[in-house]
Amino acid sequence: MILPGSPFVAYRGSELFIEGCSLHALARRHGSPLYVYSRSAMLASLASYQRALAGRRHLICYAMKANSTLAVLQTFAQAGCGFDIVSGGELERVLAAGGDPSKVVFSGVGKTRAEMRRALEAGVRCFNVESEPELELLSQVAVECGRTAQVSLRVNPDVDAGTHPYISTGLKGNKFGIAHQRAVVTYQRAAQLPGLAVAGIDCHIGSQITETGPYLDALDRVLDLVEAVEQSGIALHHLDLGGGLGITYTDETPPSAEALVRRLLARIDERGHGHREILFEPGRSLVGNAGVLVTEVLYLKPGEAKNFCIVDAAMNDLMRPAMYEAYMQIVACRQRDDTAALTWDVAGPVCESGDWLGRDRSLAVQPGDTLAVLSAGAYGMSMASNYNTRGRAAEVMVDGDQAWLIREREAANELFRLEKLLPSA
Ligand code: LLP
Repeated sequence: MILPGSPFVAYRGSELFIEGCSLHALARRHGSPLYVYSRSAMLASLASYQRALAGRRHLICYAMKANSTLAVLQTFAQAGCGFDIVSGGELERVLAAGGDPSKVVFSGVGKTRAEMRRALEAGVRCFNVESEPELELLSQVAVECGRTAQVSLRVNPDVDAGTHPYISTGLKGNKFGIAHQRAVVTYQRAAQLPGLAVAGIDCHIGSQITETGPYLDALDRVLDLVEAVEQSGIALHHLDLGGGLGITYTDETPPSAEALVRRLLARIDERGHGHREILFEPGRSLVGNAGVLVTEVLYLKPGEAKNFCIVDAAMNDLMRPAMYEAYMQIVACRQRDDTAALTWDVAGPVCESGDWLGRDRSLAVQPGDTLAVLSAGAYGMSMASNYNTRGRAAEVMVDGDQAWLIREREAANELFRLEKLLPSA
């Protein structure tokens, strides 16, 4: 059986391995639900971007919202990556993981004054500014702390990335970015403000994009703007083309990062912009296929209308199916030949009908078996919650046949550690 996604997750006989480690054995050792990542898969995904960008001034800023666990950040920092952050909390994670703040770009529509100040003091490389009032505030905060904020405006190119409405960001109706009709005047304003220095331009059109076309359309629009801005006398040094490249969850066939980036660079060169530094902000495509969520089958509930396979992972561990109706492949960690496959809805213990991980899946399972939800490395753990007072899962990083526990399972008392009872009467 060929699995979609990563070559680093594969069966050896009937047993599912991630690199050199059995997933069933890891779940037995560390408990379940358990996120497990392949370090080699992450570095291989990064290498695909790096190959295409070799020989050119560039910075890959890992969009850490996809998976912000410290050991994941450390892996990318050590491989030379910068980071795309969207909160003060993410900045603290970068610093704790040994990342270089001078390789950090700060995105997001709602940066607070305190976050701006902290980022300026830490020395982040650039702010991706998403609105005119944000620009004004950033200048004020920079002046107050005696710094100059490097800025790039996130422009909204108004192209359809052809993806789920919740993860599409480059259309007029989205809250993100500055309308491209307003870009030139906003750059002019930025150039006048005392606390700012214009550094570049930025766009990000959505996520899980599986075609090159929308990227080329957005790039053309961004380059038109670069030309207009420069004609108005403002120099732009870098082009930040955002993230968004899709991965294979089942049968999607996105271009490789290398192929996509080569196409984009060719267009950039054709249009005479080859001298500019190029930034990318990939998230999912660096970590998505590198991770799986392992879960144990608790109960089988065959029924008249549906068969339910109740597992110990739930929507609080992995939100994507409940939130986007995302399809994620589910396979047995140990394939059985003593049980017939039936069609199951794989659902968790949370008290919501929306709590499911997969519907109508053909699986040969028994209680106590372990299942793996594939391609769960992106927007899995980073979106996990404590709903139903469920501690978040543990995480393991695998490298060859070595495995490290990189996050312990949360215990119940840790979940209410910050809460206080009312004084008793
Ligand atoms: N840059 C910016 C400004 C972004 O907003 C995002 C993602 C990225 C980069 C990285 O995009 P990626 O390469 O990962 O597609 N939770 C959703 C995805 C939300 C994406 C949000 N922004 C999901 O599970 O599908």
